[in-house]
Amino acid sequence: MSKKINLESLSESISLKGKKTLISGAGSGIGRAISYRFAEAGSDLLLLDINEKGLISTEKCLDPFICKNQNYVLDLSKKEEIDKFWENLGQDIPDILINNVGIYPFKDYLEVDASFYAKTLEINLDSVFWMCQNFIRKRKKSGGIIVNTSSIEALVPFKEDLAHYSISKSGVIALTRSLARDYGRKGFRVNGILPGAIKTPGTDSLVKTAITKLQLNLIKTGYDFNRRLALGRWGKPDEVAKVVLFLSSDLASYVQGVMIPVDGGFLAS
Ligand SMILES: NC(=O)c1ccc[n+]([C@@H]2O[C@H](COP(=O)([O-])OP(=O)(O)OC[C@H]3O[C@@H](n4cnc5c(N)ncnc54)[C@H](O)[C@@H]3O)[C@@H](O)[C@H]2O)c1
Repeated sequence: MSKKINLESLSESISLKGKKTLISGAGSGIGRAISYRFAEAGSDLLLLDINEKGLISTEKCLDPFICKNQNYVLDLSKKEEIDKFWENLGQDIPDILINNVGIYPFKDYLEVDASFYAKTLEINLDSVFWMCQNFIRKRKKSGGIIVNTSSIEALVPFKEDLAHYSISKSGVIALTRSLARDYGRKGFRVNGILPGAIKTPGTDSLVKTAITKLQLNLIKTGYDFNRRLALGRWGKPDEVAKVVLFLSSDLASYVQGVMIPVDGGFLAS
């Protein structure tokens, strides 16, 4: 006599039907790819970016799917804008929060001034801090899912001129783990990703600048960086999006406080 195993099917586990997801930095690169896969998985979307044109292009990519999506143009470096956004949401509270927004400008440590430093921290770390706080306050009774975006640079500061960036992304790891510990028993699953070497408009423009301005140190680091990619190639935004989808779905129901590298093996080499 065979025993029946009563398990949710894999397609049910990965489905986000009936859920609402908020994605920051949704107007480009990895954020756009996440929007696409989450729409395919059945989630409604709240898409945030400072760049309205980018959001409109993301929206166009979602045509094949039946999902409700709403665009919000806001500057996530400003706490007042973040708080106002959450205040105005009313009952439209997302179940899932994806903090993807980030900037990665290169600057020699000795040339970094207070406003440049503050801007990097405000966008990359503070926005994640305030977004999570608002989300957890709004969902105190029901719990929810958070996925934060750090970087391989937080663990291995490989490229020069990114001290400000590495600090901001290390903060994202600390925040993710702290919230995972503090709110796990209250129904929140909080995890993160460590992307590296993902081909996006953001990284494309860095490569272009390095080549056109003949920044030899950056070209050399780029060469060494590529040699360290165990898979021997750069990744696609969609390869990050699928990991974010995994973390946000029931497939990862017992995963808490982890930072998953999505880096072609960079950290392992
Ligand atoms: N691409 C990579 O290889 C890589 C590696 C490590 C980490 N990351 C991280 O992944 C995330 C996405 O990276 P990407 O390569 O897709 O970047 P990208 O530059 O292609 O997209 C970033 C998006 O954030 C938006 N944005 C920037 N400042 C904003 C602000 N103040 N308010 C609202 N929106 C703002 C931009 O308009 C853009 O649409 C970032 O957090 C980045 O640090 C990327």
